[in-house]
Amino acid sequence: MLALVTGASKGIGRAIALELAKNNFDVAINFNRSEEPAKELCSEIKALGRKAEIFKADVSDYEQVAELFKKIKESFGESVSVLVNNAGVTRDTLLMRMKPEDWQTVINTNLNAAFYCTREAIRDMAKARFGRIINIASVVGLTGNAGQANYAASKAGIIGFTKSVAREYANRGITANAIAPGFIETDMTAVLKPEVKDGILNSIPLGSIGKPEDVAKAAAFFASETSSYITGQVLAVDGGMTMI
Ligand code: NAI
Repeated sequence: MLALVTGASKGIGRAIALELAKNNFDVAINFNRSEEPAKELCSEIKALGRKAEIFKADVSDYEQVAELFKKIKESFGESVSVLVNNAGVTRDTLLMRMKPEDWQTVINTNLNAAFYCTREAIRDMAKARFGRIINIASVVGLTGNAGQANYAASKAGIIGFTKSVAREYANRGITANAIAPGFIETDMTAVLKPEVKDGILNSIPLGSIGKPEDVAKAAAFFASETSSYITGQVLAVDGGMTMI
């Protein structure tokens, strides 16, 4: 069975791609800029005995997404059964300093891309009467966060999107769930100042920063048969940070 992970060359996406391969999925690896790490990941997955290919595409561009799905089908000879909408960016700043392009870039990448990819994936999933949509949201989409109005809006949006897709396609054997990571150690959070990191750490009941693998295990659960009676849910992987 074939899984597509967007923005998979590093961080959480990379960990998800590897975990899915370990769980016997073949993997289409989408990347936008970093080709070398994508190639390395591809070799790692092949070494696990699974099929893997890399596909360059900016998922915030609808034309490129349509082309991406065409190429994946040609290359693997099958369509995507598990879609992980993971690609994401931040453009953090206070509202008064937030430029329209900071807003648009974040919404285009974190929210519109999930719509584009899901729209392309869903027809074949509906035909097959099977599909798994896994959207990577954020706890910030549940709680909001000063300095992240654009990012929080995109992640709250993806949660509403997930629930709507879950309702619309439940009768075709397709589930849609969201994962809301808390504070995970990746390049995205590496830019935060030490005092900000310490503040966040103090708010995590389990007392440590999460690893990409923690999120990957939740994604593998939603991709698996084990979760077939679960849809439209948001699972926080955050060390207990939110609990709502
Ligand atoms: P990261 O910056 O390490 O990885 C993001 C990936 O998305 C990169 O590979 C990047 O090239 C790719 N990407 C960005 N724009 C793209 C585009 N237009 N087309 C294709 N690929 C694109 O960040 P990280 O932490 O691994 O983030 C993964 C997801 O997890 C994101 O959706 C992020 O919002 C979410 N998340 C991360 C948290 C954290 O603490 N690191 C917390 C909550 C959510």
